[in-house]
Amino acid sequence: MQRCLDLAQHALGDTYPNPLVGSVIVYQNQIIGEGWHQKSGEPHAEVNAIASVADKTLLPKSTLYVNLEPCAHFGKTPPCTQIIKDYQIPRVKIGSIDPNPKVAGKGVQLLESWGCQVTHGILKKEADFLNRRFFTFHQKKRPYLILKWAQTADRFIAPSRSVKKKSSVFWITTTQSRQKVHRWRSEEYAILVGVQTVIDDNPQLTTRDWKGTDPLRLVLDPNLRMPKNTSLYKDNTTSYFFHQHSKIPSHEVHRYISLEPFNLKSLLDFCYKEEIQSIIVEGGQKTLQGFIDQNLWDEARVFRSEKKLNNGISAPIFNEEATRTEFINGDQLSFYFN
Ligand SMILES: NC(=O)c1ccc[n+]([C@@H]2O[C@H](COP(=O)([O-])OP(=O)(O)OC[C@H]3O[C@@H](n4cnc5c(N)ncnc54)[C@H](OP(=O)(O)O)[C@@H]3O)[C@@H](O)[C@H]2O)c1
Repeated sequence: MQRCLDLAQHALGDTYPNPLVGSVIVYQNQIIGEGWHQKSGEPHAEVNAIASVADKTLLPKSTLYVNLEPCAHFGKTPPCTQIIKDYQIPRVKIGSIDPNPKVAGKGVQLLESWGCQVTHGILKKEADFLNRRFFTFHQKKRPYLILKWAQTADRFIAPSRSVKKKSSVFWITTTQSRQKVHRWRSEEYAILVGVQTVIDDNPQLTTRDWKGTDPLRLVLDPNLRMPKNTSLYKDNTTSYFFHQHSKIPSHEVHRYISLEPFNLKSLLDFCYKEEIQSIIVEGGQKTLQGFIDQNLWDEARVFRSEKKLNNGISAPIFNEEATRTEFINGDQLSFYFN
């Protein structure tokens, strides 16, 4: 099962709206096939694992491991339960049961009705954690929320506007830490910032220092203050700008979305409807504090550098205990789970 989780992890960021799934086929204590779901619309993990088995005559004597309950419904591909039946695989071992109420338990029931011996709950905690975005989305009906920011040793996230040179960015963390953030961006469906960050920093919010897909860019701009000369606006990639005006400006590339009322609940309801499964919220202070104060976060990743500013925009107030801390070239990185 651990091998299934390791395989599934390869596709983090590429399978939305689908979950991360890996599968391994074992005959007489030896792995004879394995695979993972690589992209939405492409074959599921079980199908890839079965396809990789050189001698298919061994399948009726083998055990199939998979970290998520096999699907029992027709989506973009045929149900995996059917393929397991067609190849007469007699034993299936599962990590998590599918959280989607339309699916939950049906895959197991179907397999058992055909005489397949099914066990579930193997490495359940680890399997649930791997698909925490998928689980949160289906159970809480909102995206999985990761808060991320960097603060100086004296708790500032940026110099004060009067000190900062126009259009220049003061980097708090090292290049290595920033590259890690670009990797994280490639793993999430969307990235969100408040309009003041766009005005002050003119960010691109891409994965340019890492390979991988850029996340969908979301900006909270209730009063439509974002200047038209920002990179985000000029970029030919769609960004979503959330505002509170009733008259919606139209744009050939970007989407202007009016939230009524303008608050985080309306934002998250909209994201749920759009199947936005995860968001990395990257600031600034007001935006992050809004999510923290309403307890709307699942994970926080906070960099603390050795640099000092003495003055500036304060870091969010966040009195949580870190689950884990690591060090990157002098930056301290702490992970929090809600
Ligand atoms: N160190 C870091 O990790 C980091 C990361 C990002 C940004 N920053 C820094 O943070 C600074 C900006 O921070 P900031 O706190 O001033 O601004 P911000 O959070 O970037 O933007 C705040 C604005 O966004 C809108 N907004 C955000 N959340 C809202 C909500 N829940 N409801 C309604 N409106 C909401 C409001 O716009 P209106 O004002 O129009 O109402 C609000 O004033 C920048 O200078 C940037 O350099 C640092």
